[in-house]
Amino acid sequence: MKHLKTIFSEFTSPYLQNANDRERPDIQLKIDHSFDVFKNSQNICRTLSLPERLAGTAQIAALFHDTGRFPQYREYGTFKDSESCNHGVLGARTILKHKLLDKLPRKQRNTILGAIALHNRNKLPGFISEELRICTEIVRDSDKIDIIKVLIPHMTGVQSGNEVPLMGLTEKPGEVTDAVLQAVKEGKQGAYHKMRCLNDFRLLLLSWAYDLNFEWSRKEMIKRGYVETLMTQLPDTDQIHQLRSPIMEQLNS
Ligand SMILES: [Fe+2]
Repeated sequence: MKHLKTIFSEFTSPYLQNANDRERPDIQLKIDHSFDVFKNSQNICRTLSLPERLAGTAQIAALFHDTGRFPQYREYGTFKDSESCNHGVLGARTILKHKLLDKLPRKQRNTILGAIALHNRNKLPGFISEELRICTEIVRDSDKIDIIKVLIPHMTGVQSGNEVPLMGLTEKPGEVTDAVLQAVKEGKQGAYHKMRCLNDFRLLLLSWAYDLNFEWSRKEMIKRGYVETLMTQLPDTDQIHQLRSPIMEQLNS
């Protein structure tokens, strides 16, 4: 794994070096995020009794899951897939192009590439192998838990200048978009493209409670105080308060 971490760092370091002062924090954020998602995946694997090889596959996929973010940002200057390209697919293509994982056995590498290509899909396709499914689910949970960690400080006392991680959404006090609220009420994952303000983003992060695959991730969302923090940042209304107990019930399941 140490060798693969070196490969990842060597791949990302030119992006950091060639970035200007405004861009550098955004690139650094994605590098730090990759290592933290890797750590989360280790924690999830520890709670599952997976064959060692499969756990390794999932953890490599976690470390490399956002490889596409680096060429995406250099090419388009944004992390918004809707305005640029699918960063999951770009990540898999970039790994192949730069031969980053060519030392791994082909089957293992293909599973990793599949998990990376699928990590940002709204829903997983039904026809994938069990091995690919478990790796992708581990990456998706690990990613979600870390994305919330990264975003919460950005959402607190929002100032202009840090809109890249917030996807350009701004604070509109007291506002929430019905479609996003409705999704959370129905226990579904909110849709990125329906978000119109930061409160919608907070609701979307809460809705991830319904899309976590492993007990470790559900417990972590409570343990890290994500539910409480996001709830207190949302408008102080009955319809928001009513979301809390079904979310907690889901996370404790
Ligand atoms: Fe991603």
